[in-house]
Amino acid sequence: MALGSQPVPRPENQVASNTATIVIISRYNRIVYPHTNQHRPPGFQQMTAEIDLRSDTVTQPTPSMRQAIAEAEVGDAVIDVDPTMERLEALTAKILGKEAAVFMPSGSMTNQIALRVHCDRGSEFLCEADCHIYHYEQGAFAQLSGLVAQTVAGEGGVLQADQLKHLIRPENEHMVRTRLLCLENTHNRWGGRIQPQETVQNICDWAKENGLKRHLDGARLWNASSATGMSPKDLVEPFDSVSVCFSKGLGAPVGSALAGDSSFILEARRARKLFGGGMRQAGIIAAGALHALEQHRDRLQEDHDNAQRLRDGCEACGPLSIRGGRVDTNIVICEVDPHWISADQLAATLDERGVRCLAIDPQAIRFVTHLDVNTSQIESACDIIHAITTQPVASLS
Ligand SMILES: Cc1ncc(COP(=O)(O)O)c(C=O)c1O
Repeated sequence: MALGSQPVPRPENQVASNTATIVIISRYNRIVYPHTNQHRPPGFQQMTAEIDLRSDTVTQPTPSMRQAIAEAEVGDAVIDVDPTMERLEALTAKILGKEAAVFMPSGSMTNQIALRVHCDRGSEFLCEADCHIYHYEQGAFAQLSGLVAQTVAGEGGVLQADQLKHLIRPENEHMVRTRLLCLENTHNRWGGRIQPQETVQNICDWAKENGLKRHLDGARLWNASSATGMSPKDLVEPFDSVSVCFSKGLGAPVGSALAGDSSFILEARRARKLFGGGMRQAGIIAAGALHALEQHRDRLQEDHDNAQRLRDGCEACGPLSIRGGRVDTNIVICEVDPHWISADQLAATLDERGVRCLAIDPQAIRFVTHLDVNTSQIESACDIIHAITTQPVASLS
């Protein structure tokens, strides 16, 4: 099978490239891409490697990141401090132009703790209907903090102030209290869409004038910054708090941070402990995040260029169309013609041929470019997608 056979170019050394040149066939007769030696049959050399475009979270730590992790200075951050985590928090706060930041295991936790600290139990927040906080976090705001969401569908994930003006509840014992506005930049379910900054500024000005706090889910803020050329600090200036992830485009194994003013972050630290997120020698994971923050922001444009290649490839395929008609950063969402096959069938067929994606809706699949896929793999993926879309349906799985 002629799939992308180039080793993945990594920021440094040969070790990772060598591991990428080995594959085995799984018991489902599917090519798998082992990242450790333990699966390698002796002397088995590869023809190809799997192209994993399910998410930018699938990346392996680079050798120099592993080195930074191995050498991390650590302490017990629950008893007092972990020096590496402290350095990461300070650098994150500085880059985001906020007074303080707190490191947490995941973006879901940073988002949920932001909601909890901004809102009293029994109050509500406004958000875009397709945002991660509402769509993919199990309604944790209700389960854990007693909050309600009021959702509004944006145009391609982008809300306008005019859509929200009548939504703040009057003070009335029948109603919840509206306390917070949440935005997402880039917007995951709208294909990595960048929020236009003028719109963000307008909507946040309106929210502030009306007594609402502003939180940004900036899991992929780094991508928005790279694509627009605006600094992370300028992008998040209109917000009281911002959540950022190190384990997505930046390629760290674990971790997110929540940033805001000092009193907000003090409360967020308390909530992190409450949610079971107190971490002891956290420098082990913070070191990976710190390395990613220092070394990997500058390369994100490569992922965006690869996403454009993928978009061009998909657009050339009859049964596929690009959600919202645009790809701003590293996510490509394809709507699958319902008269052809389902997203699940397409994802399974691609999987069999060595290209991995996620079926995110009954008729939509998602590809995400990242540190561990190169341009020749993207070109191979485009060829495979094209070949599938021109085959008779009966021959597909
Ligand atoms: C926009 C957005 N916010 C938050 C998250 C949650 O991050 P985590 O998986 O670290 O909980 C994700 C995860 O993909 C995301 O895409």
